[in-house]
Amino acid sequence: MINVAIIGAGGISRTHIETYRKFPQRCNVTALADVYPEKAEKKKEELGLDVAVYGDYGKILDDADIGLVSVCVPPYVHAEISAACLRAGKHVICEKPMASSLVECDAMLAAQETSGKVLAVIAQNRYRSEIQKLKAVLDSGVAGRVLHAQVDSLWWRGHCYYDLWWRGTWAKEGGGCTLNHAVHHIDMFQWMMGLPAEVRAVMSNTAHDNAEVEDISIAILKYANGSVAQITSSVVHHGEEQQLVFQTEKARLSFPWNVYASKSRSNGFPDEDPDMKAVIEEYYRQLPDLPFQGYEGEFNDVLTAIETGGDVLMNGREGRKTLELITAIYQSASTDQTVRLPLTKASPFYTAEGIQRNAIHFNEKKASVENFGDDNIIVGSSREKFK
Ligand SMILES: NC(=O)c1ccc[n+]([C@@H]2O[C@H](COP(=O)([O-])OP(=O)(O)OC[C@H]3O[C@@H](n4cnc5c(N)ncnc54)[C@H](O)[C@@H]3O)[C@@H](O)[C@H]2O)c1
Repeated sequence: MINVAIIGAGGISRTHIETYRKFPQRCNVTALADVYPEKAEKKKEELGLDVAVYGDYGKILDDADIGLVSVCVPPYVHAEISAACLRAGKHVICEKPMASSLVECDAMLAAQETSGKVLAVIAQNRYRSEIQKLKAVLDSGVAGRVLHAQVDSLWWRGHCYYDLWWRGTWAKEGGGCTLNHAVHHIDMFQWMMGLPAEVRAVMSNTAHDNAEVEDISIAILKYANGSVAQITSSVVHHGEEQQLVFQTEKARLSFPWNVYASKSRSNGFPDEDPDMKAVIEEYYRQLPDLPFQGYEGEFNDVLTAIETGGDVLMNGREGRKTLELITAIYQSASTDQTVRLPLTKASPFYTAEGIQRNAIHFNEKKASVENFGDDNIIVGSSREKFK
């Protein structure tokens, strides 16, 4: 049985607490910390928790009975708090994005390596049967090489969304929709395709004049083998139609799962290829479902790693790769240049200060509310496309 603390008692903390409660034989939430301790008290009451409440997360570092910490705070403090917890000998589940800059990811990785504890970054969609099966089909080669991929990370957020005190600024949110929303799809995509050789991007703020950061970006990626991909990240898309589409040599494969295959007539025009479609569908069908989905799947992975001394699928090195691709998008869009990967420490976007200095600032953040009162959030697409 491992005792768990949650740092940050806002919107996403409820999901963490409810997920830990799905594993009552393996873990127990015993502490809750928030810079606004009254928010932690409210959550304790609402969810009927038997926990200690702190305003200062340092109390959690000092509590030797706590073995695992969920870091549910805004992105600019992910690295500081995660690294402090690791150094204090705690395992860590850090919310997405891993951090707001690559230098912070590197500090977290160094703390993880020194401590030998588990560092997991939230990427709950990797732990969905449909996603793992799509990756398995791509990895198998049954559909051939990927020629083009299309990532539509399309979300919708109202104007007041960016009034929350930490949102909409390069300093605290660390970026806009590319970092904080599209991170989900960019992570799944880079897990399946790997990192590209180069990135070219544009970004804009079209409808949120209360935010410094972008509300839409469009990136074009090129791989060393000639494959190309495009990623659209947005919070201005009504209906939030989200998808990953892979055009391979033999078929179109996508999430949500769908297959279409073409074969060539003698003149090069397409005919449908039902035989290839059937082969791919059969490969997909025989793959096993995961025992747990989404957050439950990821927390099960973390608890198992702690219990067995292993590692997790979504560790700090994976979280860093996703942040590297997002950083490249910001660098390209802000400098109007093609950016080559891997990014080095010489990149002007390697540090949080560098990003704040060099990224396009679209608007001044004028309003800043401490709290919306309503911290019920929708996790994932509102159309529940991930189910
Ligand atoms: N995985 C997902 O689907 C998902 C969904 C929503 C949010 N998130 C992530 O979760 C994190 C938190 O988002 P949220 O929506 O819960 O925000 P929120 O503002 O509702 O909650 C964050 C809480 O952290 C507290 N906090 C801030 N700085 C702190 C500090 N130094 N020490 C202790 N507490 C501190 C705030 O007072 C607040 O209560 C973000 O990184 C966000 O990207 C992930």
